[in-house]
Amino acid sequence: MPTISESEAARIVILISGSGTNLQAFIDATRNKSLSANIVAVISNKPDIQGLARAEKAGIQHRVINHKNYTTREEFDHELAVAIEGFSPDLVVLAGFMRILSNSFVRRFEGMLMNIHPSLLPKYPGLNTHQRAIDAGDNEAGSTVHFVTAELDGGPAIIQARVPILTGDTADSLALRVLTEEHKIYPLAAQWFCRGRLRLSGEIVYLDDAPIPENGIQFDEQTMG
Ligand code: GRF
Repeated sequence: MPTISESEAARIVILISGSGTNLQAFIDATRNKSLSANIVAVISNKPDIQGLARAEKAGIQHRVINHKNYTTREEFDHELAVAIEGFSPDLVVLAGFMRILSNSFVRRFEGMLMNIHPSLLPKYPGLNTHQRAIDAGDNEAGSTVHFVTAELDGGPAIIQARVPILTGDTADSLALRVLTEEHKIYPLAAQWFCRGRLRLSGEIVYLDDAPIPENGIQFDEQTMG
């Protein structure tokens, strides 16, 4: 994997499938310079989504590669991988990208592919995470940024943000509280990566050359905000 030199801004490709609020957090972070990187492209697997309008408004190159036009997952993933490589990214960010990626895709971008999942992994991989946390009677929920490996929502954690589950919370109200934290931790993880502070080696994540805890760095607004 090429290392990013201090002088040049890292190149990020962001993959989306929906509203793109995390994409917006990245756009805002590059503007306010808390993220020293260029978002060189946004790729969506769905047409006409709000995330594409956000990319357009920000003047970022965007493309739709509609998974419905491909008969197999491998064909779609191949087309997607070729498109991504065309932008020579240092980092590929899955931001609400709702497609399971094949092992060969994941291996191609290993160590430079990040995802955000709306639960405190390893709890609740997969869908409906907020309702599952409420139904289980948990008193907190949250979100995890992790490197992507072949295991669904199972790659090594980088950073987690926790929020309380309040009496009367619905999946929607909890999702909103979690999203607010996602918008802080995802650009922060990307900034660590883009500054060469964060790396994946085997299954271990290193921040500033020290291995981080298995559940990731625990976000604390006081110290990291
Ligand atoms: C977020 O909750 C993220 O954790 C999950 O999908 C949602 C994306 O939201 N992977 P948005 O498209 O960034 O608004």
